Amino acid sequence: MKLAIPKERREHERRVAASPDTVKKLISLGFDVHVEKDAGLMSSIPDSEYTAAGAKIAADVSETYKDADIIFKVQRPMHAAEGGVDEMALIKSGAILVAVLSPFSDGAMIDAYAKGNITTFAMEFMPRITRAQSMDVLSSQSNLAGYTSVIDAAHEFSRAFPMMMTAAGTVAPAKVMIMGCGVAGLQAIATAKRLGAVVSATDVRAAAKEQVESLGGKFVMVESDETGETEAGYAREMSDDYKEKQAALIAETLAKQDIAITTALIPGRPAPLLITKEMVQSMKPGSVIIDLAVESGGNCELSQAGKVVLESGVKIVGHYNVPSRTATDASALYSKNLLNFITPLVDEESKSLNIDWEDEIITGTLLTKDGAIVHERLKGGN
Ligand code: NAI
Repeated sequence: MKLAIPKERREHERRVAASPDTVKKLISLGFDVHVEKDAGLMSSIPDSEYTAAGAKIAADVSETYKDADIIFKVQRPMHAAEGGVDEMALIKSGAILVAVLSPFSDGAMIDAYAKGNITTFAMEFMPRITRAQSMDVLSSQSNLAGYTSVIDAAHEFSRAFPMMMTAAGTVAPAKVMIMGCGVAGLQAIATAKRLGAVVSATDVRAAAKEQVESLGGKFVMVESDETGETEAGYAREMSDDYKEKQAALIAETLAKQDIAITTALIPGRPAPLLITKEMVQSMKPGSVIIDLAVESGGNCELSQAGKVVLESGVKIVGHYNVPSRTATDASALYSKNLLNFITPLVDEESKSLNIDWEDEIITGTLLTKDGAIVHERLKGGN
């Protein structure tokens, strides 16, 4: 079975879907691994490391995709209408594609996978069950994004994070507020604490309180009978009454902060607006806001994707693709997630794929198969 690792071609993407470590393991599973020339360069993995691990280096994109039975990618392939290389045209009928496929932001692609008879697995749909934790790309990448958000904040902030008592005077610790305490938010809390900041945090899910406090953060939350958590453990959109109370709480807390890091997301919906222009103006000059939700609509009214906006002396940072900013670690963890996904699908003796199509992990991630759209959440929509 030929397994292809193409170079990522989308803007702001530095990651790659295999590491030398996972290449070795994929080969021992029976795959013939072909990595496109320079695919790992932006993650500091030269071709020589892939070759040493046993992979073949494909000279160009056509050679990479040619006759590939399985394709591992970070982001969905490029198609003709986007200009540049038409990767879709290079995928053979019957191939399997494993990637973060963003089905809701690019529905036309789902039709194209079905028409091209490509079997597609969307890694971001991985069910959050214990057995699938090691395959959970949202967790592995959000964790790094949470860490990077604090480092980015420290970079933009013209003061220090820890308290320092020196002969020349005392430096006060930075006050950091984290909004949204999922995987990214919790890692942001831990990172800001390690740097010596005084950290507070908020979420609509009451379950987050214990986690925040165990990391040494102070939890602030709207007092309400409304539950912010769905059965799947995600946040729901709150009522207008709740939103009003939350806005008052944030307005009061934010004015006293130096740094705000926002990570709030609601699956399948635009990110909730948490910080208005007036709230930004209430912050001290020199304060920094890092909006990790900027690509999903933003938690701050003023954030713009790919920009650092300056308003009343406050910097509002909206970097694209934050996990890609720690590309080496992000690639290593993402690659491991994919290896952990494919390993149970390989029959050890025959070294061929033996997929249980009824398995929860498969039905949860499978978008298209045998020329049809099969995922419950997509059927009829596209
Ligand atoms: P996410 O990326 O969907 O959202 C980030 C955070 O924003 C969440 O904590 C959410 O509650 C919060 N949020 C949404 N709207 C908000 C608002 N208006 N104000 C304040 N906060 C708001 O979340 P993520 O990181 O995917 O985690 C979701 C849940 O899944 C968590 O409970 C997490 O612990 C759990 N989880 C479970 C895993 C497993 O069992 N395998 C793996 C990873 C996460």
